Amino acid sequence: MQPSVVSWYDSNASRLAGAYEAVPPIISRDWLADLLPRPPAVVIDIGAGTGRDAGAFAAAGFEVIAIEPSACMRVQAERLHQVPRIRWLPDSLPTLTTASRSGIAADVVSLNAVWQHVGPADRPRAFRKLVGLLRSGGLLVMTLRHGRDDGRGTHPVSLAEVESLARSHGMQGVRAVPSPDLQGRPEISWTAVVLRLPDDGTGAAALAAPHPHGSQERDLQAGPASGAVPRSRQFCRAGGGGRRRACPAAVGLGRPELAPTLPAPCEDRSAAGARQPARCRRARLRRSWLAGP
Ligand SMILES: C[S@@+](CC[C@H](N)C(=O)[O-])C[C@H]1O[C@@H](n2cnc3c(N)ncnc32)[C@H](O)[C@@H]1O
Repeated sequence: MQPSVVSWYDSNASRLAGAYEAVPPIISRDWLADLLPRPPAVVIDIGAGTGRDAGAFAAAGFEVIAIEPSACMRVQAERLHQVPRIRWLPDSLPTLTTASRSGIAADVVSLNAVWQHVGPADRPRAFRKLVGLLRSGGLLVMTLRHGRDDGRGTHPVSLAEVESLARSHGMQGVRAVPSPDLQGRPEISWTAVVLRLPDDGTGAAALAAPHPHGSQERDLQAGPASGAVPRSRQFCRAGGGGRRRACPAAVGLGRPELAPTLPAPCEDRSAAGARQPARCRRARLRRSWLAGP
């Protein structure tokens, strides 16, 4: 994680909240909605920002773990989305240290507008951590931002790179869809990618699932679309720098509901637990964690 990126979000959290919350949540996007498992499946939202997507998943009945490194963004999220089904966790890519050690297994791992903040050298490690959070058959959902850095610390991304990482982890490509910038910025476009961790762990063949908007459907192997991406509503507010403001996070960090609530790593639980298959230990931890402290 780049500290400067998180500082930028800390400094701009209150300004960003309105813009982020005005965007339709990812759960309602037509390239994803028909692929989602039924609630109460477990969703991990990484780089959850102000909690728009986490809140929508929770409202739909999913159990949500929202991971966000910026304390000020978490404070905004707590203000906007006070939902019991969301567990907030301060953690970050590429290490995802706390989440990885928790043994949690998700049905969906979502990175909406986050991958551009992971430096290219960190991406193989980050991707491995993401796959490690998925249960068999689970979905990894990413939106890839194409466009120049606006000052917050972004790196170029490509579908080809994600495809390559997916192949090396035996993941299936389900869908890759060019998507508009929801702020209507002409210099920015997106590719929405959905990958699946196969049940048997062997397949890496691309699946082209039917998509409601056939013209936007992209087989993962085909690469990003060329041509204009339709303009739509705002997605993330542009803007650079800004004077660092006092952060209300000091208040938020002191609150028990914002404190990390993960159980101890699997190995520490019990000798009996350590002898069980990893899948059983993960299921047990998942149940105990989601049940709350
Ligand atoms: C463009 S915002 C997107 C927020 C939210 N996902 C949404 O769609 O509204 C990027 C978010 O990723 C977070 N972030 C930045 N670097 C990160 C990292 N290395 N790991 C996890 N999250 C990160 C930022 O703090 C910020 O909240």
